[in-house]
Amino acid sequence: MKRLYIANWKMNMHYCAARSFCLDNYTRIIELSNDAEIIICPSFPVLQEIVSIFNNTSIKVGAQNCCAYQSGPYTGEVSIQSLQELGVSYCIVGHSERRTLFDETNEQIAKKIELLLSAQIIPIFCIGESKEEYENNKTVEILANQLAICAQLFSQAINQQSIIIAYEPVWSIGTGKIAGHDYLAHIFSWLRSYLAKISPKSNFRLVYGGSVNPENSSELKKIDSLDGFLIGNASTNFQTFEKIVSLL
Ligand code: PGA
Repeated sequence: MKRLYIANWKMNMHYCAARSFCLDNYTRIIELSNDAEIIICPSFPVLQEIVSIFNNTSIKVGAQNCCAYQSGPYTGEVSIQSLQELGVSYCIVGHSERRTLFDETNEQIAKKIELLLSAQIIPIFCIGESKEEYENNKTVEILANQLAICAQLFSQAINQQSIIIAYEPVWSIGTGKIAGHDYLAHIFSWLRSYLAKISPKSNFRLVYGGSVNPENSSELKKIDSLDGFLIGNASTNFQTFEKIVSLL
């Protein structure tokens, strides 16, 4: 299976910048996708444009969030059905910025995953521990908690879709700080076996996120149980993104 590279542009790439990123580098992005699976997650207003730019190619588009309700009086929210009608194939859920800055709860995240799975949109489910939890050796406990509430839902997705789990230590996001190889290798192998235990029939792809850049990506690629990366800052510059994807 090709390695997965998910570009999470957050609110950093505005409409024009996001559009030119894709149009100016179109040929090279398509070339990169010969050996890599690329998913671009721009902000809501650009989704339709980017879906149409990459129509009939292997580049897929993901949203950064969705509403936990199907439809109704939820001013300012975006429904999963709208995402589906736009041709969006993935959606990030539970990103730590949403958990901490917008008070998103595990229950809301579980609801979103449930609705996404029934709409055939693949969730990119983010989990991760804070700095304090990391320092107190609580990582495994925190991750198990964040996953537990969704275990039931995962089994609904048996054999139909894969679910992407993004392990992103909160203290590593946007900070340039990154855990060592052995620590990450340990967490990912624990994650792989824990998921197999709680949802044996589901199909998971595991990605790492948090300060991924061309300097650390080759080392990260050596981690066995890792299927790819969720890349924030470094994905907003094409040359940097290209290096991460193409470096061995
Ligand atoms: P970063 O962000 O690569 O800028 O650390 C990763 C993320 O938040 O998904």
